[in-house]
Amino acid sequence: MKIFIDSADLDEIKQAYVWGVCDGITTNPSLLKKAVDVRKKKGQKLDIKSYLTEILKIAKGTPVSLEVTERTVKGMIEQGKKLYALFNPIAHNVLIKIPVNPALNAADTNHFEGIAAIKALSNAKIPVNCTLIFIPEQALLAAKAGAKIVSPFAGRIDDYLRTTNAIKFDKSDYFPAHGWMEKGRLLSDHGVVSGVDLVRQCVQILKNANLKTEVLAASLRNPRQVREAALVGAHIGTIPFTVIPDLLKHSKTYEGMATFTNDVVKEYLELTKG
Ligand code: G3P
Repeated sequence: MKIFIDSADLDEIKQAYVWGVCDGITTNPSLLKKAVDVRKKKGQKLDIKSYLTEILKIAKGTPVSLEVTERTVKGMIEQGKKLYALFNPIAHNVLIKIPVNPALNAADTNHFEGIAAIKALSNAKIPVNCTLIFIPEQALLAAKAGAKIVSPFAGRIDDYLRTTNAIKFDKSDYFPAHGWMEKGRLLSDHGVVSGVDLVRQCVQILKNANLKTEVLAASLRNPRQVREAALVGAHIGTIPFTVIPDLLKHSKTYEGMATFTNDVVKEYLELTKG
């Protein structure tokens, strides 16, 4: 599974690329707002074009998803094309992120705007990452429309299952991939029992349909979820900056390291030290 960093914060992105573990970057309007607000609070002036340019250069050779903020098919296509024209020439690594369904509620009739925008941009050879996937059917339609990547939101489905069943939780709490039994009933939403289960179903459905679209497990919150997304065959997992170091931590690793450090033979060190 490829690992992307889910961030629009330049410092986080720089550090993650120094660590050498990043295969790409995902951003969204909220992540960009967060990063911009941090800089504004520090009194720093922000030129958004230079800021995003720096991110794209750091990521050179790996993809960066930039999201549209318009909600009509025409608006999304125009904005997607503009984003691509402005930023892709910098490092040739831009994907345009399109919401699968930009309607704000069930009564809103614009349910196919996202799919139509994906189709138009893909036909124009602009790679699309389709976002806000919460049911596998959305992933299937987005992939059929030509999306290069589909992004099921694993963590948010877990939150939703807990919230709608009045279960107290912290955002980073682990939610079992096989689901949660509450009062003798397995919690589910549209037949999905967990975020990882959503990812698993998307992977399987696209595989069955022989579609080459990659499944990007988004909204991952903890190392266990990252592992489970990889185990169910997600092609990509996008991870918040703070979770990346958590992938390396184990008390027995610390303990072993302490022993090895104590046991260093002086002559060995003298001979080999750089
Ligand atoms: O990649 C999607 C992600 O940014 C959403 O994450 O933690 O806000 O659900 P979260």
